Amino acid sequence: GREKKADGPKVLKVGTEVTFPPFEFREQGSKEITGFDMDLIRAIGKKLDMQVEILDMDFEALIPAVKRGNLNLVIAGMTITKDRQKIVDMSEPYYTSGLVLVVGKGNTAIQKPEDLKGKAVAVQIGTTGEVKAKQLTGEKVRGFKTNEEVFNALKEKTVEALIIDKPVAQYFINKHHPDVVIVGNTFETETYGIVMRRHGELTPKINKALAELKNSGEYDRIYEKWFGK
Ligand code: ARG
Repeated sequence: GREKKADGPKVLKVGTEVTFPPFEFREQGSKEITGFDMDLIRAIGKKLDMQVEILDMDFEALIPAVKRGNLNLVIAGMTITKDRQKIVDMSEPYYTSGLVLVVGKGNTAIQKPEDLKGKAVAVQIGTTGEVKAKQLTGEKVRGFKTNEEVFNALKEKTVEALIIDKPVAQYFINKHHPDVVIVGNTFETETYGIVMRRHGELTPKINKALAELKNSGEYDRIYEKWFGK
């Protein structure tokens, strides 16, 4: 007879938000979702002998979807924070990052975080950048669903600055927006983690697979593919 396996889903339903290059994005003209996170989660899927199904959603909808059980996990350049850990499990860190301030070239009015007071700043809704922008501007924050919209708002000068993760800022500047610049250093260090249901059986499995990929050198190969040596 047919036996039912008791070891969880064979298909991993993975949520992400695809305007976050080089972690998750679509190459121009392509439907396929690619990036560092995508390679990492596919490698993890292989280790767990599970099929990976990627679903693109609004960033702010990702954690609620894990909580409801509509997704098995999320990989989306998501920063490990105390607030998120109250709602979901987060894996061991897999990438070290931080937020930066970005302005139009030649904007001399904004040279440090304190200069943002009262200024309009663009962010992606639901991100740590949104939290930071609210602290620094005193609530004058314009939230957008996608990071394309965040950068376009700066280009069209409907905002004076934006706040986003540094590697993503660098990617957008290099590929699409040579007319904007990063101001200063990153705010505090942030690390990214994979999101899973709280106290679920997946958490130790994902952490184990991640550790194995780090030990075998496979993590390093994926890292070098996207970020160089
Ligand atoms: N690291 C930031 C955060 O956790 C931004 C992540 C945005 N990710 C994305 N796929 N759009 O809030």
